[in-house]
Amino acid sequence: EKGGYEHFMLKEIHEQPRSIANCMRGRIHAEEARINLGGISEYANKFLQAQRIIIVSCGTSWHAGLVGEYLIEEYARIPVEVEYASEFRYRNPIIGKDDIVIAISQSGETADTMAAVELAKKAGATIFGICNVVGSSIPRLSHAGMYTHAGPEIGVASTKAFTAQVTALSLLALYIAKHKGSLPSSRIATLLAELQKTPDLITSCLKSEPLVQLIASEIKDSTNCLFLGRGINFPVALEGALKLKEISYIHAEGYPAAEMKHGPIALIDEQMPVVVIATKDSSYEKIISNIQEVKARKGKIIAIVTEGDTVIRDIADYIIEIPFCEEALTPILATIPLQLLSYHIAVMRGCNVDQPRNLAKSVTVE
Ligand code: F6R
Repeated sequence: EKGGYEHFMLKEIHEQPRSIANCMRGRIHAEEARINLGGISEYANKFLQAQRIIIVSCGTSWHAGLVGEYLIEEYARIPVEVEYASEFRYRNPIIGKDDIVIAISQSGETADTMAAVELAKKAGATIFGICNVVGSSIPRLSHAGMYTHAGPEIGVASTKAFTAQVTALSLLALYIAKHKGSLPSSRIATLLAELQKTPDLITSCLKSEPLVQLIASEIKDSTNCLFLGRGINFPVALEGALKLKEISYIHAEGYPAAEMKHGPIALIDEQMPVVVIATKDSSYEKIISNIQEVKARKGKIIAIVTEGDTVIRDIADYIIEIPFCEEALTPILATIPLQLLSYHIAVMRGCNVDQPRNLAKSVTVE
């Protein structure tokens, strides 16, 4: 059942070329710049008229929501707020019938996310569910939605569900953009064609596994680890840190790289591995200065870079290459080596990666 892999988590990491393809199947007609989302049709106008969108979710799904915020604001030009479901529901939030609430949940059963949905629904909002488990509670509570179709995820640490959530949000953002006219059709066509290449690009990211294992063996005894990213890759840093802490029990934090100088840089010394997402995108020059700041304090840099990068190679202790892609798609690719890194560190530390202590696959308590 683990398909020859030692753990479900590793199997699910390697399944991502297929799970992403399944998430896109039948939904993309790149040449015509058309996105087919059956589950939205009746409510499409709501999205076109929406003054704002609120995303509610927990944990890894919340990180996907943060990527979604970048994508929807950038392409569909609708303001987006991303909320922890648990904070949203207990705050007496201001919400009404013109709002759209997107609930993201792998299991579709997370108690806090369900309660947030129920509250928003009562206030008259339109609920759009992005879930993986077909027929689960959140899709049943939602007015409209889309399944991520990543297939069953058994490992407690979410991997393929996250990349499928980001894929689904990319499709949704482009769908709204197309119907709103906020992005030229030619640009939508290009982005869709690039999105269709991601399964192959993920396959190539997975080839870095032996190198990632080597890096894992170098940093596995650390007690702390920082993850830095900027822009659309800031949520990837958060996700990298969450994955490491939940399965290896190493204390890890994700930060927007520019925030380092406002406090966390005090933590840096030669004992501190710092994983930086430093792909060639709009933040590239800035992130190089952030890497230099860490290096000047003797931190150990592990950089996720764009294939062929020669500048960061000279500054970083280790580099892991990912293929060049549209900036909007880098979160999907940059996540892959971070998943592998956490996995191998946890295995080397003798941890139970599929069943980490104190965690359950779906959190049905509040
Ligand atoms: C982390 C993880 C959790 C879940 C969170 C929400 O790897 O799996 O943080 O993402 O409990 O679960 P869902 O997406 O099922 O609502």
